[in-house]
Amino acid sequence: MCGITGYTGRSVALPFIMQGLEKLEYRGYDSAGVTLVDKSDLFTCKVSGRLDNLKAKLDEEAHQQTCGIGHTRWATHGVPSQLNSHPHTNSSGTISLVHNGIIENYLSLKQELLNKGYVFQSETDTEIIVHLLDDVYYHETGDMLQALLKVVNRLKGSFALCIVSKEFPDQIYVAKKESPMILGKNETGTFCASDAPALLAYGDQILPLKDKEVAILSPDDIRVFNFKGEEMKQEWIAAPYNIQAAQKGGYDSFMLKEIHEQPRAIRETLRGRIINDEIEINELNELDLDWKKTERIYFVACGTAYHAGISAAKELEKLTDVPVYAIPASEFRYGDPYLNGRCLCIFISQSGETADTIAAIKLAKQKQASTVGVVNVLGSSLTRLSDVCLYTCAGPEISVASTKAYTTQIVLLSCLIIKIAEKINGYKPDIQLIIDFKELPELVEKVLKHESQVKELSGLFKDKKDAYFIGRQHDYPVALEGSLKLKEVSYVHADAYYAGELKHGPIALIEDGTIVIALATQEKVAAKTISNIQETLARGSKVILITTESIEVDGFEYVIRLKEISRCLMPVQIIVLLQLLAYYVAVIKGCDIDKPRNLAKSVTVE
Ligand code: G6P
Repeated sequence: MCGITGYTGRSVALPFIMQGLEKLEYRGYDSAGVTLVDKSDLFTCKVSGRLDNLKAKLDEEAHQQTCGIGHTRWATHGVPSQLNSHPHTNSSGTISLVHNGIIENYLSLKQELLNKGYVFQSETDTEIIVHLLDDVYYHETGDMLQALLKVVNRLKGSFALCIVSKEFPDQIYVAKKESPMILGKNETGTFCASDAPALLAYGDQILPLKDKEVAILSPDDIRVFNFKGEEMKQEWIAAPYNIQAAQKGGYDSFMLKEIHEQPRAIRETLRGRIINDEIEINELNELDLDWKKTERIYFVACGTAYHAGISAAKELEKLTDVPVYAIPASEFRYGDPYLNGRCLCIFISQSGETADTIAAIKLAKQKQASTVGVVNVLGSSLTRLSDVCLYTCAGPEISVASTKAYTTQIVLLSCLIIKIAEKINGYKPDIQLIIDFKELPELVEKVLKHESQVKELSGLFKDKKDAYFIGRQHDYPVALEGSLKLKEVSYVHADAYYAGELKHGPIALIEDGTIVIALATQEKVAAKTISNIQETLARGSKVILITTESIEVDGFEYVIRLKEISRCLMPVQIIVLLQLLAYYVAVIKGCDIDKPRNLAKSVTVE
């Protein structure tokens, strides 16, 4: 969702800016633009649509400027169009800026600027920032750092800003509140981007800007200040992954590559978590929580991470008497949840930057709850906000449709809930669970061997527009995730239902040829689910059944059997099949798999 890049130094800026925007393409966008700085002028070029359109408009040879900024926009205020795309420039063409996030008080600020005679070109919230900066810089401070500090302190909402001006032709000013911004430097200059992949080819150390910080990038130097104008100490960290890890490595798409990376990602996530057949999450000891008096436990997240949270919550409620809830972050933050110092909140996020999840953790902290982050991206906002942070070690997930982040979340959450139960009531897991954890990477390798079978099954979707996923108990959250994968990448309308709920409405939609993907991996309820499947077959459905080697099923045309393993890890095996199914259906439908329409990888606006 929106990408920012900026470079100032002794090299030509445009190649850095463009490669960075390309690396951020996966985040989703609908228009793009750049501003390059000359001593005498700012050159701005913007287009609607893909980066290729921007490239076609730019004569790269002709642009030898050594300072500039770029942006890919995902529309929030105003339709995707050339006028609404960034950068936005003040009326005299001396200041240009790009912005990720949403300015919540833009209407009142716009009115104030209109009253002063400012003229607006776009429908965006962003444009007010450049006019406000113009007003404060030219009419009040005459100093850009002071002007920027005044402006950021007046903005409500979230923003990552990147600003250039012909008044300081070799400097870039950046600011961050709630939207990510990462800085870097090498022997040629300094640079910034809204996400690490854009910087990886240029250096292996990064400086993630903290919330409410601004920075001045010069060719040889970076200075960081807080919103009060006090200079801050810089905490550089190693880039979270290397450039090879962020490339397709011979696969047709990042999604397929990342599906295949799951055995390794799970292995990495489990590294150091099982020692002498005991699960280790020593980080929990750092929490200031009286475990035996825990009143409530919440799993809070968005999208795929939320689905991982539902599975974890269902498991944990079986292990303790404490009430456990899984709540989407967008609901949690506005739902007046019961929170106090005896509550534990677990926030799950691949990016660690999802706006609703960040707002939710802030609420939990404000109410003194203990907070745990389960995060993939090092140095992200959630890692800094949570009392303790546990990392899924999935490596960079570039595909918008999340795959390896989900399976590593399930694995890490499975470790976490066992430790939570141990702290609350002394729970000890069965040794079989430890064996299953250890074998899981190999088991996932085995599941991946079903790829050609799944590819063949995807042929069933050729003329189909709908599909229904069903499952009971612990299969249900996996059905939700499977249906999300299918709709995200293939645009096939997909819904997930508890199998037993089917006859209370959804069965009205089943007709000759309707596809039903049925999950029956839970011994206790498998026979019930099979009966529900029969009800759909009787109405002409085509059923793809996923079950275990030991569950008795007969007479199904399309069946895939998985090894029966501990319940909390079963979603990992099932989802790999459903990810492959979604992928191959999207191939059949000719979809742009890594850049699904309207979707963004990291949703940094509410
Ligand atoms: C977006 C992505 C989803 C992701 C969700 C939460 O909607 O398209 O794939 O699950 O955000 O993202 P997070 O980074 O917080 O896990």
